[in-house]
Amino acid sequence: MFDSLTILGIETSCDETAAAVLRRHGDGQIDILSETVHSQIDEHAPYGGVVPEIAARAHADIADTVVEKTILESGLQLTDLDAVAATSGPGLIGGVMVGMMTGKALALAANLPFIPINHLEGHALSPRLAADCPFPYLLLLVSGGHCQFLEVTALGAYRRLGSTIDDAAGEAFDKLAKTLGIGFPGGPAVELLARRGDAARFELPRPLMNRPGLDMSFAGLKTAAARVADANALDDQGRADLCASFQAAVTDCLAGKTERALAEFKSAHGGETRLVVAGGVAANQSIRAALQKVARDLDAVLIAPPLRHCTDNAAMIALAGAERLAAGRVDAAGLEFAARPRWPLDEASAQADPTYGSGKKGAKA
Ligand code: KG4
Ligand code: ZN
Repeated sequence: MFDSLTILGIETSCDETAAAVLRRHGDGQIDILSETVHSQIDEHAPYGGVVPEIAARAHADIADTVVEKTILESGLQLTDLDAVAATSGPGLIGGVMVGMMTGKALALAANLPFIPINHLEGHALSPRLAADCPFPYLLLLVSGGHCQFLEVTALGAYRRLGSTIDDAAGEAFDKLAKTLGIGFPGGPAVELLARRGDAARFELPRPLMNRPGLDMSFAGLKTAAARVADANALDDQGRADLCASFQAAVTDCLAGKTERALAEFKSAHGGETRLVVAGGVAANQSIRAALQKVARDLDAVLIAPPLRHCTDNAAMIALAGAERLAAGRVDAAGLEFAARPRWPLDEASAQADPTYGSGKKGAKA
């Protein structure tokens, strides 16, 4: 057995260059010794979305600095580490390769194991960074790149219960913000305007709400909102009303499907029921409040990690590495791992239903 494990984690799968040094004690307690998240928002903002080539170059420019600073701030040396873990998929492949190669180079130089991490496993384990969150729990992962329900029963045991069949919820927020010209990333901008808007002004669809199952869809809602914007010469109040109407529709969809998912999860597992929400969209107060109500109504506990661990970060990647190392589930051939642009957490479900993405079409899926 071991007293503690100290891991460097690296995350570069989208538009954040992040590193963290984390210590996992023998009893499972976690200390984050240092962490850095460098956001590329300014570089992508002029385009109203993440541009893969710009992201890859920006990661390449700064990854070494971010990692060096993070190790320095931990007060440790490379030789004090037990392993290096880096996101090796899924995500924008140029960025993933930058982080993965940085991690491999450090591991090779310091003669440490390299642990390739599935970014989605990082999100799935993220509630355990700060809260006591024993298995099993239901996870709603809702970000700009993902939107899915996962049943998390153990390390490496993730069952996808449902997911968006087209766009992720955050992507729909970003598209509406782009259409209205109110900023990037769109979620915070839409939420801000929605506060003074009338959610009943525009009637928008709640896709798949009347269908059984836990799949979601946001493409139709996104298009419907864009049509309203195009068809009406919206003034400031009109834009606020559209944001409020849109946010109410997304909230209804997420809360409605979560209610169903949680009821099924509760009857399958019994005992204390935990609902975890992670991903950038979890920052939205209207959505959080609706999920809180769903949890309360079903006598479950809602665990929402602090926002910095909901959005992309490297502490969750280091944690996944530490958990894998502690459980002896590290492949000796980590240095040979090839980056995977697509890497479903639940490979069996993905193979059975290949039409479903991890929450986003295209490169980020
Ligand atoms: O988890 P994240 O940082 O990156 C991805 O993995 O995508 O999530 C970013 C997404 C963006 O689409 C952003 O618009 C959305 O989360 N988001 C929000 C809010 N804050 C961020 N969506 C709704 N309301 C918010 N307050
Ligand atoms: Zn993510």
